[in-house]
Amino acid sequence: MSLLAPAELSDCAEKLIRGRHATRAFRPEAVPEDTMRAIFSLAGAAPSNSNGQPWQVEVVSGAARERLAGALRAAHAEKRISADFPYPEDMYSPVLQARRAAFGAQLYEALGIGADDHKARAAYDAESLRFYGAPHAAFLFVTGDGGPRLAADVGAYMQTLLLAMTAYGVASCPQGLLSFYADTVRTELAVSEGQLLVGVSFGHADEAAPVNHVTTGRAALEAVTTFHR
Ligand SMILES: Cc1cc2nc3c(=O)[nH]c(=O)nc-3n(C[C@H](O)[C@H](O)[C@H](O)COP(=O)(O)O)c2cc1C
Repeated sequence: MSLLAPAELSDCAEKLIRGRHATRAFRPEAVPEDTMRAIFSLAGAAPSNSNGQPWQVEVVSGAARERLAGALRAAHAEKRISADFPYPEDMYSPVLQARRAAFGAQLYEALGIGADDHKARAAYDAESLRFYGAPHAAFLFVTGDGGPRLAADVGAYMQTLLLAMTAYGVASCPQGLLSFYADTVRTELAVSEGQLLVGVSFGHADEAAPVNHVTTGRAALEAVTTFHR
């Protein structure tokens, strides 16, 4: 049971959920270990089908992070793509494509990269494999059969993790791109089970970086929600 009155709790939730943003420039300072333990412990409170908790989380810091960033950059340069979850080009409908394009335009404008500058965009993607400068990254694996239902549970874990980080003053960026090199991550971290869904870079935000001031909108409530009576 909550110790807060409902209005206080909803006010906290509004601030917490709306206060989380994808961060793409970090300061180098490490997150203290006790804070990390509190965050990942809280994330484990995420719901899952029949409480199966089909997630395995690998967190890299320090030398392990350096090694993995190097291996990811090498895999990227050599086009050794190994995505456990397929990423078909046509998975986005026109509506979703339009939202992605609007977001991309905002992001690249903040970065000072022109709309047609494919070379600069590709270089930025490659650079993002260094976790945007974050001192830590978490890799979320789906255990069990790794199928869509279990992957959805790990999606719920991911959002719980992002909110737990926000609550503890830690900035984050979920990065689907990190999952495109699943074999590299597996080899570097000696992981033998599970399918890699997503990586999450985290640490303290570099507030001075313009890219951290991109604000993303959302579809109107009515566009995505129907209340049946
Ligand atoms: C599953 C998932 C994968 C994502 N992959 C990337 C990525 O590879 N690179 C990146 O910079 N941002 C990535 N993002 C961040 C999204 O671009 C971001 O969440 C979205 O634009 C909404 O912005 P906000 O998180 O600041 O609200 C990803 C987010 C999610 C949930």
